[in-house]
Amino acid sequence: MNISIFYEKQDSYKVIRELTYHIGDVAAEIDEKNKNRQDIDIATFTYNDAKYIRKEIQINNEELYFLYIYITVYANNLKELNYTLNRIQGILQSRGIQSRIAYYRQEDGFLSTLPFMINSDKINHIARRNILSNGIIATYPFISSNIFDQNGIYFGDNRENNSLIVIDKYKEEYKNSNICIFGTSGSGKSYFSKLQIVRNRILGIDQYVIDPEREYDFICSQLDGVLLKIGPNSDTYLNVLEIRESSLEDGESGYLANKIQKLFGFFELIFRKFN
Ligand SMILES: Nc1ncnc2c1ncn2[C@@H]1O[C@H](COP(=O)(O)OP(=O)(O)OP(=O)(O)O)[C@@H](O)[C@H]1O
Ligand SMILES: [Mg+2]
Repeated sequence: MNISIFYEKQDSYKVIRELTYHIGDVAAEIDEKNKNRQDIDIATFTYNDAKYIRKEIQINNEELYFLYIYITVYANNLKELNYTLNRIQGILQSRGIQSRIAYYRQEDGFLSTLPFMINSDKINHIARRNILSNGIIATYPFISSNIFDQNGIYFGDNRENNSLIVIDKYKEEYKNSNICIFGTSGSGKSYFSKLQIVRNRILGIDQYVIDPEREYDFICSQLDGVLLKIGPNSDTYLNVLEIRESSLEDGESGYLANKIQKLFGFFELIFRKFN
C-alpha cells in the first residue's frame, strides 16, 4: 500500500480566537434545557476538547496542525483487496482511528497518495483531523537514530535498532570533541576508554592520558607510548624549555618570542616576582 501524510500548520492566534468563540457557543448549547441527552454528551466532549486545545496552545506552547492521512491499497484481485482493506480497517479501528473508503472519489484519493504533493480539496475536508505538535511527533514515519559519521570510529551498537554507532568527534557539527562516560563500577568504562585509545591510535591521533591510578601503563607500553611519571621521586621530567610546534595557538606567530613569554609566566609562578 501507499500512505501519504499531509500536515498543515495553523495560525495559533487565529485558532485561539476561533476556539474561544466556539467554546462560548457550545457552552450556551449545553445550557439549553430542551436538548436530548446524546446531543449534550457530544457538546460536552467538544467543549472539553476545545478548552484542552486552547490550554495546550496558550500554556504549553503547542501548535495546532491539520493532519491528513491517505492510504491506497493494492491487490491482485478483488478478494485479496477486500481482505487487505478489512485488515487495515480493523487495525485502525482497534487504535481508535476512524477511516473511510473514498467511494466515488477513488481517483482523488489515489492522486493524493502519489508523490505529487496533491492534497485534493475534493476529499481533504473529510480526512482532516486536528492534531497538536506533541501528537504529530508520533505520526512521523521515518524514525532512525543512526549515528554514523564518515571517518569516525566505532563506539558501539544502538540497542534500539542494532545499528552501529560510529562517531567522528572532531567533526565540525559538534560543538566540541569532549565526551563523558558514565556507568556503574565494573560496567566497562575503562575498557571502553582503552578501546577508544587503540582506535584513535590507528587513526594517528595524538593522545595524552592523565592516569592517577596507573591503569594505563600496559596499554601505553603496548602502543609504544611514552610514560611520564610526575612526582618527587620520579626519574622522568617535563622539559619546560622545549619548544613544540603545537604550543602556538591560533593567530600567534614566533615560536621563540612566544616561548619566552610563556616561560616568564611559568617561572613567575615558581619564584614570584621574576622580573
Ligand atoms: N565490551 C566488553 N567486552 C568484554 N569484556 C568487557 C567489556 N567491557 C568491560 N569488560 C570487562 O569487564 C570488566 C570491568 O570493566 P572495567 O574495568 O572497564 O569497568 P569500569 O567501568 O572501568 O569499572 P570501575 O568503575 O571499577 O573502574 C573488565 O574485566 C573488562 O575486561
Ligand atoms: Mg575503571
